[in-house]
Amino acid sequence: MIEYENLKKLNEPFFAEYMTAFRQTMESGWYIMGNELSCFEKEYAQYCETQFCIGVASGLDALILALEAYEFPEGSEVLVPSNTYIATILAIIKAGHKPVLVEPRLDTYNISPVEIRKKITPRTKAIMVVHLYGKLCEMEEIMQIANEHNLVVIEDGAQSHGAKLNGRKSGNLGHIAAHSFYPTKNLGALGDGGAITTNDASIADKLMYLRNYGSKVKYYNDRIGINSRLDEIQAAFLRIKLRKLDEINAHKQTLANIYHSGLSDAVVKPIRTPGYEDVFHIYNIRHEKRDALRDYLLKQEIKTEVHYPVAPHKQKAYAKFFEGQVFPVSEEIHATTLSLPVSYWHTEEQVNAVVKAVNSFVG
Ligand SMILES: Cc1ncc(COP(=O)(O)O)c(C=O)c1O
Repeated sequence: MIEYENLKKLNEPFFAEYMTAFRQTMESGWYIMGNELSCFEKEYAQYCETQFCIGVASGLDALILALEAYEFPEGSEVLVPSNTYIATILAIIKAGHKPVLVEPRLDTYNISPVEIRKKITPRTKAIMVVHLYGKLCEMEEIMQIANEHNLVVIEDGAQSHGAKLNGRKSGNLGHIAAHSFYPTKNLGALGDGGAITTNDASIADKLMYLRNYGSKVKYYNDRIGINSRLDEIQAAFLRIKLRKLDEINAHKQTLANIYHSGLSDAVVKPIRTPGYEDVFHIYNIRHEKRDALRDYLLKQEIKTEVHYPVAPHKQKAYAKFFEGQVFPVSEEIHATTLSLPVSYWHTEEQVNAVVKAVNSFVG
């Protein structure tokens, strides 16, 4: 069986270093907001080439806090792609704003700058872009639109650690960026974790309060905040994995190259665009008989995933926010997309076997 993901296998190369870090952190007797967190924040900011990094408890919290830091009027409109993972939309609602869904491009799966322009109103305050599957959005065009309309651009970089656009890294392409360290991510922890990166000193300073009960000095609460801190243990593990992130991404890129050259043109493969260095958090293909292909692969002992089976505007809890609206591009993606195995521990041999099986289905 070729599994889609196996978190034990993914982390096994780091077990020895994790054990040392675990012991040191345990014996330090300091478990929240200590040396590991501040070192990780410095190292991750350096990696993203931003001035500031603030560790938080999850990617969702990173998105919520990034929005809250700007203090937009309640009910402001925030543009967000219609085919994102639900967290991006949930964050806007939790921050007290209105998510306005924008269709993606069918060739990149990322938010369309042309569609962004159509959705801007006097109430629009921000664009939340999502670098889906590990491919960056068209940030030069998007920043141009944002400048014209005085909008804040928030990157959802949960799936794009280390991706580059013309040499610039994910997390340093908008005004502020949210990162998730959920275990399956390219930079994944052994539990939940997240971070915010920015080059804006006053926003970074505000976030240091917001993530910790509105307090920077113990028992002095200058703002209304929440409890969303990145644990010392997770920060210690993340420091170890961060040193290997480029190697993890390079391995995923090698596997993606095998898919790209080996898969039949009867499936839609991820587009390759000069200047974009994709990190393939997910390697997705599209095919009109997606479900039959998925069943066929399972019979060949190959597990796949669907990111994501239901479009956000069709989710039970969210449909009420988007009544009467249609998103055909998003629906086409949700109906046809299939994610193939592309983890750090998968071998070239395994990926060649997946290529062979997919090709034998599509003929
Ligand atoms: C695009 C995207 N945004 C946000 C999140 C939320 O991150 P977390 O699970 O760490 O809250 C995820 C992943 O889970 C994601 O894939």
